[in-house]
Amino acid sequence: MRQRTGRVYFIGAGPGDPQLLTLKGKRVLESADVIVYADSLVNSAICAFAREGAEIHGSASLSLREVSLIMVTAAREGKIVVRLHSGDSSVFGATLEQMAVLESEGIGYEVIPGVSSIFAAAAALKAELTIPDVSQTVIISRLEGRTPVPEKQRLSALAAHDATLVLYLSVGMIDQVVAELLAGGCSLDTAVAVVHRASWEDEKVIIGTLADIADKVRRAAVDKQALILVGKALDPELRCANGHKSKLYDEGFSHGRRKAKQ
Ligand SMILES: C[S@@+](CC[C@H](N)C(=O)[O-])C[C@H]1O[C@@H](n2cnc3c(N)ncnc32)[C@H](O)[C@@H]1O
Repeated sequence: MRQRTGRVYFIGAGPGDPQLLTLKGKRVLESADVIVYADSLVNSAICAFAREGAEIHGSASLSLREVSLIMVTAAREGKIVVRLHSGDSSVFGATLEQMAVLESEGIGYEVIPGVSSIFAAAAALKAELTIPDVSQTVIISRLEGRTPVPEKQRLSALAAHDATLVLYLSVGMIDQVVAELLAGGCSLDTAVAVVHRASWEDEKVIIGTLADIADKVRRAAVDKQALILVGKALDPELRCANGHKSKLYDEGFSHGRRKAKQ
């Protein structure tokens, strides 16, 4: 029997490859009556999981008011509503404002996590973002565009941490990214990788340094749907090196599940 008030599920659709949708996300999607999906980034192939007769809306051309109206109206009719966001909805997903509307309208909602593009990009690069002695910190950020970034979080300030930096929504301003990182103290030979459409069939990987990445990105004609990953952890030579090992698998290191070998 259908509930009297429906429910809204924010689901992370993953970075592009439909196989990267979680099993839980797929199960809820299959049961949805109404689906609103971010059609600028979410692979439309994921809509193939929708049941026959489900109502499907692309959100790229809709305003917050229009998206909210679809979700609230359907939930009030007792329907299951899925709001599909690219990657994981908590990262640059503009979900807070939608949740605020649902809260004020008294509509129940849940969040089902997804695979953010950061992880698809790391997989494409076969990179570990946290390497002992190299980087134990990952900073997710963006260059300021039309959306402001708080002063203390400017790229030039973040550069000082020497951490692994992952920049969303910034590849169209690659020259400014490079300039801010250099101003923040990064050297020209800092490793940089750009991954365009990670996990899609036409995925592109561009490897370079702060000295040449802007030219390489321009030559590859990549100006959107890409992540910029910066820092020593992205240095391709690390994979061949022998120096960076974890304690976890070190034979001389004891932990709760294993005694160190003498
Ligand atoms: C509005 S944000 C959404 C991010 C998303 N919530 C996530 O977790 O990946 C859009 C930005 O995410 C990045 N992005 C999304 N999907 C991508 C992919 N498959 N490959 C590379 N970057 C991607 C790009 O920087 C793009 O401009």
